[in-house]
Amino acid sequence: MIALSPTLQARLSTPLKIGSFEVKSRVLQSPLSGVTDLVFRRLVRRYAPDSMMYTEMVNATGLHYVKQLPKIMEIEANERPISIQLFDCRPDFLAEAAQMAVREGADTVDINMGCPVNKITKNGGGSSLLRQPEVAEAIVREVVKAVDVPVTVKTRIGWNDREITIIDFAKRMEDAGAQMITVHGRTRAQGYNGAAKWEWIAKVKEVLTIPVIGNGDIFSVEAAVKCLEVTAADGVMCSRGTLGYPFLVGEVDHFLKTGQLLAPPTPVQRLECAREHLQALWEYKGDRGVRQARKHMTWYAKGFSGAAELRGQLSTIETVNQGLEIIDKAIAQIADSVLIEEDNLAFV
Ligand SMILES: Cc1cc2nc3c(=O)[nH]c(=O)nc-3n(C[C@H](O)[C@H](O)[C@H](O)COP(=O)(O)O)c2cc1C
Repeated sequence: MIALSPTLQARLSTPLKIGSFEVKSRVLQSPLSGVTDLVFRRLVRRYAPDSMMYTEMVNATGLHYVKQLPKIMEIEANERPISIQLFDCRPDFLAEAAQMAVREGADTVDINMGCPVNKITKNGGGSSLLRQPEVAEAIVREVVKAVDVPVTVKTRIGWNDREITIIDFAKRMEDAGAQMITVHGRTRAQGYNGAAKWEWIAKVKEVLTIPVIGNGDIFSVEAAVKCLEVTAADGVMCSRGTLGYPFLVGEVDHFLKTGQLLAPPTPVQRLECAREHLQALWEYKGDRGVRQARKHMTWYAKGFSGAAELRGQLSTIETVNQGLEIIDKAIAQIADSVLIEEDNLAFV
């Protein structure tokens, strides 16, 4: 049984203020490369209309040379609140990219200073900025000068256990003009392993005046509440918990606003959502969308009998119709098994 303490509810009942921009929810959907395209965000937003969403991270150097909008930077008309996330190590390219983001309609611009992937860090971007705080500061200053929307930063607690530098780093970001910081409670060396160290998020919250968002291991409403209690953060950001489960942000938001738990979606409702996701990815990206949908489909197919076999089938779909047929069959099978169970109950 999860309880929402009156103190926590009172603390979170006001809008989240990101500089001059106000968001009516304290729960955010994280940027997830290869996942948070506008199709996914549309699904999340259905259940969490007030929440801030993020695009996948966009390479500022790429934008500088190509000078046209990549698909991952597209946002829908009236899709708000929305942040475009950028990564790079060049303040000038990031400033230019931020201006493109604002032209596209971003309410805030977020700078990725947490990505652990080698391809990104070896070029000086993502979490390697934790080791170059002066560059990170210069980035924030340049981007703040270039745009009139709030600039935010998403980062980790440090490079590794011997270099947990987040307190100094976060302070520097605030001093440079960042209007909010999201702290993923892991080091770069941890990748996505081990528990997120929320205690560091609490320490950051103690020293900053801008909003601090807690991130890492928010897989349930319970975890979100715990993180908010432990860290005193101004909000929480859900990440892997939303893979195949675009309901999570809405569930947490609803609980924080009402103290009531929503009924979780049934396996059929999850598969219907998977069906819609597949169809929409295909309409938006064609065959490439179907290939991208494979991983999403396997994430949805969990928690009911026959799910493992279904995942196997969905992981190799070649066409949208093939995928839809497989899902429809699975939905019919689950519906049948529920009917059989109900028939049996009639004889009890
Ligand atoms: C598949 C995947 C893609 C990600 N892409 C991004 C990204 O584009 N930008 C970013 O800031 N973080 C990215 N992250 C990190 C998450 O936003 C989040 O910080 C991390 O997963 C920790 O939260 P969790 O433990 O709740 O998953 C990604 C993580 C995963 C698993």
